[in-house]
Formats: sequence, C-alpha cells, structure tokens
Amino acid sequence: HVERKPFPKDFLWGSASAAYQIEGAWDKDGKGPSIWDNFVRIEGKTFKGTNGDVAVDHYHRFKEDVALMAEQGLKTYRFSVAWTRILPNGRGEVNEKGLMFYENLIDELIAHKIEPMVTLYHWDLPQALQNAYGGFESREIIEDFTNYATILFKRFAGKVKYWVTLNEQNIFIIHGYKLQNHPPNVNNAKRMFQANHIANLVNASVITKFRELNIPGLIGPSFAYGPNYSIDSNPKNVLAAENAEDFGAHFWMDVYRFGEYPIMVWQWLKDNNLTPEVLDGDMDLLKHAIPDFMGLNYYRTTVNADNPLDGVGLGKINTTGVKGSTVESGEPGLYKHVSNPYTDKTNWDWDIDPTGLRIALRRIASRYRLPILITENGLGEYDKLNDDCTIDDSYRIEYIRQHLVAINDAISDGVNVLGYCTWSFTDLLSWLNGYQKRYGFVYIDRDELDEKELKRYKKASFYWYQQIIKENGKQI
Ligand code: BG6
Repeated sequence: HVERKPFPKDFLWGSASAAYQIEGAWDKDGKGPSIWDNFVRIEGKTFKGTNGDVAVDHYHRFKEDVALMAEQGLKTYRFSVAWTRILPNGRGEVNEKGLMFYENLIDELIAHKIEPMVTLYHWDLPQALQNAYGGFESREIIEDFTNYATILFKRFAGKVKYWVTLNEQNIFIIHGYKLQNHPPNVNNAKRMFQANHIANLVNASVITKFRELNIPGLIGPSFAYGPNYSIDSNPKNVLAAENAEDFGAHFWMDVYRFGEYPIMVWQWLKDNNLTPEVLDGDMDLLKHAIPDFMGLNYYRTTVNADNPLDGVGLGKINTTGVKGSTVESGEPGLYKHVSNPYTDKTNWDWDIDPTGLRIALRRIASRYRLPILITENGLGEYDKLNDDCTIDDSYRIEYIRQHLVAINDAISDGVNVLGYCTWSFTDLLSWLNGYQKRYGFVYIDRDELDEKELKRYKKASFYWYQQIIKENGKQI
C-alpha cells in the first residue's frame, strides 16, 4: 500500500498466556489434577522432564504481573482458566477459592483499564473426566464443559467481554490422538476424528449457551492457522497444498462458521472408514452456533508437495532447539511438508513469514466473513539476561514489527482485525520445549529445573511495544 490505513482507534493491543504455562500452584487451594499435570510426568515426553508445577508462579505473583502489563499499556490481556481450579473433578462441587483467584485477577486487570480476555479451555482437561469417560471421546463432556463455562459466564458477565472457547482444537486433537506428544497420548485415527467431532459439539454448545444467557460480549474459538503454500507450480504440488488447506484448516474453521465438514475431507473419511458418529441434531447444533469472531493463532506457514500413498507419514517435530532437527512429515496420498527456501527459520525450525499472516487474515476474512481477533503471535527464542539485568531481544522486536506491518497491510486490504495479542506477556513454560524457548516481553529468571527466584526483568521488546501501543501503531 502506498499509504496504510491507521489501526482502528479501539484496536486491542494485547498479550496472551495460558494457565498451565504460567500459574504453577498446581495443587493449591483445592485445585484438582489436569491431564497435563500427569502427562508431563511420563518420562521422555517433555524437554528435560520440565513441568508446570511452579511454572512462573503467576498464581502468587499476578499483581506484580498485572502492574507490568499496566506499565506497558496493554489494552487487553488474554489468559485461560484452569477448569480444575473451578471444578476439581471437572463437574460437581464448585471450588470457591479457584473462582476467587480469577475474580481477583479480573478485578486487578479492570482496575488497571486492561480488558480481560478469557480462554475457557487451553488444554488442561480435568483428569477426573479423562478417567471417568475418556474426556473428549464421550458426549458426556458436552454437558460438563457447558456447565463449567456457564459458571464462568454467570460469575464474570459484564466484567469480561471477550471469550475464547477452545484454544487450538486442531493442535490438541492431532497431538493428543495421533502424534502422542500431548495427553491423552493416543495414536488412533478413528478415535481422533470422534474426539474432534465431540470437541466441535462442545464449542457449539458453549456458544449456544452464551447466546441463551444473553451474556454481553463476543465469543469465538482460537484456531492455529498458517497458510499452506505449494512448493512450485507443478499442479500435483498445488493439489497437495489444497489438500493441506482442506485437511489442516477448513476441516475445523468450516465447521465453526458453517456447521459443515468440507466435502473432500468427508469423502476421505468415508473412504477410510474414519467418519465420526454423527447423531440427529449434531449438524443442526453446529450450524446455529456461529462465533462472533475467528480467533487466529499465527506462527508460521507450511510448504507442501505431492506425497504418494506409500510416501511420508508421521515425522518428528523439533523440540530440541537445534536448527535443522525437524524430520519431514506428511499424510500419504494427500501432502507432505517440505522446507521453504525463501524464509528464515527460528532455532526450532519455525518459518518466519510475516506475509503469511497477511495472507492468513485475507483468506479467513474472505472465506468466513467474520472479524478476526489475533489471539497469539510471537517468537520463541533463546534470550540472554545480561549482567546489568537487561535483555536485548531485538530479533523479537523485528519479528513483531514485521508482523504488525502485515496486519496493517491486511487492515488496509479491508480485513476487520479486532486486536492483536502477542504470545506471550511473561516468559512461560513451552509445553514440550521447557523454559528455554522464551516468548515474553518480561524475562523470568528460571531455567528448566532450577526455579531460582523467578524474578521478572523487562526486555527491550517490553519498552518497544509500550511505545507502539502509545502511538496506536503509527510508527511501525
Ligand atoms: C500455541 C499454543 O500452539 O503456541 C501455546 O496455544 C504455545 O500454548 C504456543 O505455547 C507456542 O508453542 P510452543 O510449542 O513454542 O510453546
């Protein structure tokens, strides 16, 4: 654009986190165990056996953290509620102490003029429900989840105006039921598609309840999306990229928006005997639960090439932080992911592709005709705490700056972007990659196994984003 449009006046400049990754206090004040509390204890599942028992102790230091948010000038802060703090067994008796923690956090945010944005589910399912009926594999979860959400809706109605239903359903389903690096640690395609269908019903049921209760505000899911490119113009590779879009994105977002599974994916499921059980009323429920926005978690794009039926299957993701340790993966007969020769990579092999964000925003806006809330975007890297307690993360500033330019371009293209939450505000536990993969504006002095004093230090990016917010993005 010769001249970019300004960011909207009420643009939500924000930052995000998730309960398990920051709170710690995993068994305090009546909290029940979640599937992540247990999964991290299985040997070899996380980097050096790291867990969120203490995490960055946000549970005890939330006031200090909110003060930092206020100093930076955040307009919104996205966090998730740990279901097991509210209902230690996933259902049944409510734990008032758990509710009070979030009430205090929300009040603290509001007192500092920061809009709370609440994610209902960021992967920490109550272990009790996993044990009782297999979690997302049973329809019982629809009622239990909706009851849990209702408790929060009623308690925080009026105070919380932005609600995220499920965080990255595609990630927790694929990693939990195929790659075996999330709980419930299963590799079974039939069960995966069944659990996924039920998760769709959960999402729809919660949105329907939100409407019935007339809760003021907006609600929608957060989806992990990055555009799929073709490696070149060979039609076979272009088709592979189309497959990757259908199977990796439309399979979820079409359901959220239209209440329909994409035609080609459904046919493939039928041909492979993998269709989930769809009962009377399911599709009707899905069709009528249209979200107010599409939440977008954007990190990277993917390049695709043709993959024959005897081609590449499960690969290996880089959880080591050593560049180049990703092993090719794909879905035989559909696509395989290959490296992009045009983009820089992080130390965890994630493509750095700001233009991909502009493309993502445009694709979502065109196909789904909904406002978009960017609920996550950020750079996971090694940071160094200097002797004088400064952290020069200029690479992170550049990463965010370029992504803001892409957002500004998309806004100028006509896309309605409600806000932008960086991942993350403080450093936190990266589920599989420990504490050394840092995302925050605020450095937390701890490493994988030594919690040290968990002191907070502002990185260079903290001050930079502070200025961006102050000028409403004028000087990017
Ligand atoms: C998203 C999640 O998938 O990406 C976050 O919603 C996560 O919880 C983030 O931390 C970054 O991923 P990772 O693997 O680098 O921690």
